[in-house]
Amino acid sequence: MKKILITRRLLRSSEEKASKIFDAKFNTNDELYSQEKLIKLSAGCDGILTALTDKLDAETINKLPSSIKILSNFAVGFGNIDLEAAKKRNIIVTNTPEVLTDATAEIGILLILGACRRAPEGIEAAKGSNWKWSADYLIGKQLTGTRLGILGMGRIGRKIASIAKSLGMIIHYHNRSKLSDDKEDGAIYHKDLKSFLGVSDVLSVCCPATKETVDLINKETLEYLPQGAVVTNVARGDIVNDDALIDALNRRKVYAVGLDVYKGEPNLNPGYLKHKSAFILPHLGSASKHTRTAMADLAIDNMNEFFKSGSCKNKVN
Ligand code: DGY
Repeated sequence: MKKILITRRLLRSSEEKASKIFDAKFNTNDELYSQEKLIKLSAGCDGILTALTDKLDAETINKLPSSIKILSNFAVGFGNIDLEAAKKRNIIVTNTPEVLTDATAEIGILLILGACRRAPEGIEAAKGSNWKWSADYLIGKQLTGTRLGILGMGRIGRKIASIAKSLGMIIHYHNRSKLSDDKEDGAIYHKDLKSFLGVSDVLSVCCPATKETVDLINKETLEYLPQGAVVTNVARGDIVNDDALIDALNRRKVYAVGLDVYKGEPNLNPGYLKHKSAFILPHLGSASKHTRTAMADLAIDNMNEFFKSGSCKNKVN
């Protein structure tokens, strides 16, 4: 049996599955391992099932025991792992695509609705019983006929587009390349970021965090948005420059934000907390029992496939 380290607690059925296939070391308290502890615990292991809370930078990867051959990330995103450093050490990195598309897209839509329809203010008022219905009370932005800009039209972006379309939104997108007609499904492609942002009344950030996308939404690019745009992010906090976005909220260039992900999670820039128009969630994208089980099972299957065949279809490096 291959020996593996699982850095975070999984749902019970997934831990049972892992223990049938591997000699697995579990994290029974679900503590957040420091980099030193993770290196120490991986001694004698053949692979590590990592989570987005584990920061595997080059320094950490270089200190892993030579027996480690795979980092199976329990997430579709892999910005927490230095892919190049892993490659140099002949360690493959895998992720869990597809299984979390629907759950994450649901949260993407919730962010759009919550930010546009002033959910944070509404929740606060309802809880405090300090509100009175009136014709102009908490008027928000209706989605019907509003242009939605999807930054990154991968699986999650496309699912958000299809739900948003059913709500009457008009879909524009920016991607490295134009999609085929069937994948595009009527959405309007912009090769140029400036032209794309210029039509994004509501922006939905759905792209992975890579060297090219870190801080892509910044002081300069925020100015390309229409006045009073809404900015939502269901992908990764690193893509957005928080100071610039908070400044845009302060100046009312941006009407509201809907965020599920942050730079330096679990901390978030306190500037957001001052804004009633910030609809913020604690990284709930894939948080449903069905999806978390499917993700963990896929992360286990990725390891199994790799140990059996020497490769894995969900390899990302
Ligand atoms: C992912 O898989 O990257 C999600 O953000 C996890 O919730």
